Amino acid sequence: MVPESGDSASTRRKESKRNFLKFAMAFSTLLAVGGIAAVLKSITNPGPSAAGTAVSSGSRQFPRVKVAQLNDLTIGQPIAFNYPLDNEPNILVKLGTKAEGGVGPNEDIVAFSSICQHLGCIYGFQAPGSSPACNQAYRADRPVGYCCCHGSVYDFVNKAIVISGPSSRPQPQVLLDVDVSGNIFATGMGPPTIFGHNTGSNDVSGDLQGGIPVG
Ligand code: FES
Repeated sequence: MVPESGDSASTRRKESKRNFLKFAMAFSTLLAVGGIAAVLKSITNPGPSAAGTAVSSGSRQFPRVKVAQLNDLTIGQPIAFNYPLDNEPNILVKLGTKAEGGVGPNEDIVAFSSICQHLGCIYGFQAPGSSPACNQAYRADRPVGYCCCHGSVYDFVNKAIVISGPSSRPQPQVLLDVDVSGNIFATGMGPPTIFGHNTGSNDVSGDLQGGIPVG
């Protein structure tokens, strides 16, 4: 073995130092690029915990279901339909007067769950001037829902808030949409949750059994 001269040893040390510096720079560049990519990914695609927070009641969603047609409706004559589940009745009615959350050309078509928020009886619609069969002494002075079980009255022009009676909550409003052909769709439910599903909660879609899981 030929002994290495002092000059060649020094050259080799300098070269390996240069190689090490090149490697270190390349490695730190990779780390920086990877870090930026990870940050970008977390912004555009939140992880499980962030998504869970944003959709706390949205792990389920409502179906879009055709429930009527504009031409089917006559002022003051309600149509019954089940939504969002097959056994959950609602009343849809054209009031003839603009209503909160109303749809259609005159914003007078509304729909509400017809399961009374008091104790779950099915209530009926009363047009202005009419009386329920169970109480001829009562005469509606506006479009209302009237529950014959215990007399709760809901104001259909104003999101079915309670006018009188023992109910402490309004009726859940069915969210409606009308397309260009006049088809009326149910697209969701407003709070509170339909009677019988964690009653009193505002976590409407999360509380309803049978909602369609997302993802
Ligand atoms: S169940 Fe409707 S008022 Fe009691």
